Amino acid sequence: MKTKLLLSIFTILLLLITACNKKPTSTADQSTTNNTVFIEKGLEIAGATQATMSAQLKQAMETGGVPNAVQYCNVAAYPIADSLSKIHHATIRRVTDKSRNPANAMNEREQLIFKQFKEKWNAEQPATPIVEQLENGEIAFYAPITLQSLCTNCHGKLGETLQPENYAVIQNLYPQDKAIDYVEGDLRGMWSIVMKK
Ligand code: HEC
Repeated sequence: MKTKLLLSIFTILLLLITACNKKPTSTADQSTTNNTVFIEKGLEIAGATQATMSAQLKQAMETGGVPNAVQYCNVAAYPIADSLSKIHHATIRRVTDKSRNPANAMNEREQLIFKQFKEKWNAEQPATPIVEQLENGEIAFYAPITLQSLCTNCHGKLGETLQPENYAVIQNLYPQDKAIDYVEGDLRGMWSIVMKK
C-alpha cells in the first residue's frame, strides 16, 4: 500500500514538475523554481540509476539465481553508481540506517533527513524528496527508497522470504550485514545525490 501511495505521489510530483516547466517562470519565486528544477533532476538521476540496477539485478537472478545476483551486487553496485555519477555530474549514493555494506551507512546530515522521511513514513504521510544547498554551493537531493517484493529475496525475513542458503552467501561477503527483516513496502533507505556545480 505504502509503495503504491509513494509511487503515485512521485508520479503526481513529476507530472506537476513537467507541467510547471511548460509555463513561463518569470513570475515564479526564484528559489522555488530552483528547487523544482533540482528535484526534477534528482528524480531523473535516481530513476536512471534504479532502472539500470534493477534491470541488471533481474538478469543476474535469472541467469544464476540469488547467489549469482549477490555476487553481481557486490561487484557492480559501485561501478554502476560511479559511471552514472560521471554521466550526471553528481555523486550518487544509496544510504541506509541498516546497512549491508558499511560504506553505505549515513553521515550525520543524512541521519537527520532520514529521520524526517521515517516520521512521515510511520505516520503514513507522503515522504517527498528533499533538496538543500550545501555550504560549498552544491545541491544535495534526498529521496526515500522502498522495498519491492523482489528485494525480499536478499533483504527479507530469514527462513521466510530470505532462504538460509542464500543468506549464507550474503553473510560470507558481508559479515556485518544488518539489511534483513524487511517486508514489501518498507522504507529501506534513501538516495543521497550531490549535484556538482
Ligand atoms: C540478489 C540479492 C539482492 C537483491 C535482490 C537486492 N539487493 Fe539490495 N543489496 C544487495 C547487496 C549484496 C548489497 C550490498 C551492495 C554493496 O556492496 O554496496 C545491497 C545493498 C543495498 C542498498 C545499499 C545500502 C546497504 O544496505 O548497503 C540498498 C538501499 C538496497 N540494497 C536496496 C535494495 C532494493 C530496494 C532492492 C529491490 C529493488 C534490493 N536491494 C534487492 C543484495 C540484493
